[in-house]
This record gives sequence, C-alpha cells and structure tokens, in this order.
Amino acid sequence: MAHSRILGTGSYLPANVLTNAMLAERVETSDEWIVSRTGIHARHIASDEETTSDLALKAAQAAISNAGIDKGEIDLIIVATTTPDMVFPSTACLLQEKLGIPGCPAFDVQAVCAGFMFALTTAHNYIRTGMAKKALVVGAEIMSRVLDWEDRRTCVLFGDGAGAVVLGESDEPGILHAKLAADGRYKDILNTPAQISGGKIQGMPYLHMDGPAVFKFAVKALSDIAGKTLAEAGVPQDDVDWLVPHQANLRIIESTAKHLGLPMERVIVTLPQQGNTSAASIPLALDAAVRDGRIRRGQTVLLEGIGGGFAWGAVLLRY
Ligand code: UT7
Repeated sequence: MAHSRILGTGSYLPANVLTNAMLAERVETSDEWIVSRTGIHARHIASDEETTSDLALKAAQAAISNAGIDKGEIDLIIVATTTPDMVFPSTACLLQEKLGIPGCPAFDVQAVCAGFMFALTTAHNYIRTGMAKKALVVGAEIMSRVLDWEDRRTCVLFGDGAGAVVLGESDEPGILHAKLAADGRYKDILNTPAQISGGKIQGMPYLHMDGPAVFKFAVKALSDIAGKTLAEAGVPQDDVDWLVPHQANLRIIESTAKHLGLPMERVIVTLPQQGNTSAASIPLALDAAVRDGRIRRGQTVLLEGIGGGFAWGAVLLRY
C-alpha cells in the first residue's frame, strides 16, 4: 500500500476579534473566570458576509501554495465541518467550485470537534488504497452562528476559523497510524439538536453542553486513544516531538499531556487567542507551529481531537 504525508498546511482566521472584556459587556462573565476555567483570552468571529466555505477557501489556498503543487493536481476534497454553509450541497462541493477545480470527489465529514481526525484518516486511506494521490483536507467552522449569545456557559468558549492540509502520496511514511472512536450514548451532553422540517427550524438551534460531563469524558477518552495509538504504532511516548491537541480547554490539554508524560513545552497551544474552533482547531494549531518553525520535517507529531457524538480520534504522523 502507498504511504501518505502532509505536503503543506494553511489556515485562516476572520479579522474580527472578540475579547473576554468585550464578552463581559454582553453576558455576566469576567476575563478572570474565562481565563482561569478555560485558558481563553479572545476568539475570532466571522463577519456577516463570510461563510464557512469562504474560510475554508483561504485556508485551502494557503495549504496548496505551501505544498508547492498546482491546484489542478488535487483529486479529493474533504471538509470537516459542523457549521456548513447550507443543508446541501456539501461545503466541500462549494469549496471545490470556489477553487475552480471541478471533477474530483468532494464531501463533508461530520464529527464535530473530532471532524479533522475523521477527515484526515479518510483521506489517508484513499491515498493508501490508490484512490487518490493528492487530497485537500480542511477543517472549517463558524461556531459563532450556532451559539446562544445569552448563554455564558457556552458563548465564551468558541470561535471561528479554518485550517487545511494537502495530503499526498509518498514513498516514505508520513501518517504512521490513525485511530477513531465514537459512542452515541453520549449524544445528550453536547449537541445542537435542531432540524429543518416543513420549512421551519424544529427544536433548539443553539449549541448545548454539559461542560463538566464533557470535561470528564474528554480527558479520559483522549488519554486512552492517544496511548493506544502510540502503542499500536510501536512508537514510545518519548519519541513524540509534538502533541497537537484539539483546543477546547487548557486544563484538558494539560491533563492529556500529563497522562502522556509530555511536558507542555512539546504541546502546541493556540487556544488563548482562538478559543474552540471545533473541526478547525487541530489544523489551525498544526499550521501555526509549522509556520513558526516549531514543527519541522522528520519530526513525530501526535494529533488528537474529541467532540459531540461523542466522536474522538488520534493521528500519529511523521511531518
Ligand atoms: O470541543 C468539544 C469539547 N468541549 C469541551 O471539552 C469543553 C469541556 N468543558 C469545559 O471546558 C468546562 O466544563 C467549562 C469551561 C465549560 C466549564 O468549566 P467548569 O469549571 O466545569 O465550570 P462549571 O460548568 O462547573 O460552572 C461553575 C460555575 C457555575 O456557577 P455555580 O453553579 O457554581 O454558581 C456556572 O454557572 O461557573 C458558572 N459559570 C460562569 N461564570 C462566569 C459558567 N460559565 C460562566 C461564565 N462566566 N462564562
């Protein structure tokens, strides 16, 4: 079977920044509470004119440019999103049209904050089995549109953005191992249960979360899957140069790193200025660390994410 490796990364954050102090003018909260409980200081918010596929386009263009390929070489597009532009067509099809590369398969993956893990694993297997040679994999979200801006328990946590990678066929192993999991029994502790029916929105269209229950589940599930991914790949923890975790809560990130025996100096953290950007958070963090030179070619990187469903996963790779 063929190998797949990341050829280039890219990301995009909307220009508008919403600080904790600005939020404290809208709901009963404080910078002190948000920072001490989550580690978040600010988040980017898309303008009314921007769509998820617009954010995805900018991240994708950067990833294609950094990969040094022609966009016409892309033969698969997967977008991980939980906030698509519309019910259908998929955001991946809208992105394909904006990129001007008709023809290749394009589809969305919905695993909320774990979406990028599912999308990357899918693209990896397309390449391994010879069904694609150069895949564009994007995580893009406008979470601000599914938040109840009067609910302080959730509106302080999330932000908007997009991250992308070009994954290409390779002689050398890039992605070393991937592991995914889901458990629908936890559907009620994190969801946005509305649906469109009869021309109307039925049910609650805002993100609902039982924060403490999610926190507890996330720490255990992420530690378990990260440990199993390394064990199955036969890679010792000490060999991991960088952990790139989903950015939901600094305390969850610290706890997972501790379970893995990794010092925080080897963990990529973008949460303070971005908040939780759901499916976009891992590729955003990956791109930031590649661009500032922390993650270098040949290093071993562990990605991990978890979100509503519950769905979670980890991908171990040699960058
Ligand atoms: O990406 C998907 C995965 N998501 C996550 O991983 C999120 C996981 N959960 C968390 O990050 C944390 O549970 C939260 C940050 C959401 C909440 O932190 P917590 O330490 O678990 O706080 P809590 O929900 O137990 O609330 C503690 C108190 C409550 O007040 P009382 O009942 O003790 O009087 C809340 O009403 O803090 C109150 N509170 C707030 N106070 C000020 C909740 N939100 C706020 C707020 N500002 N924004």
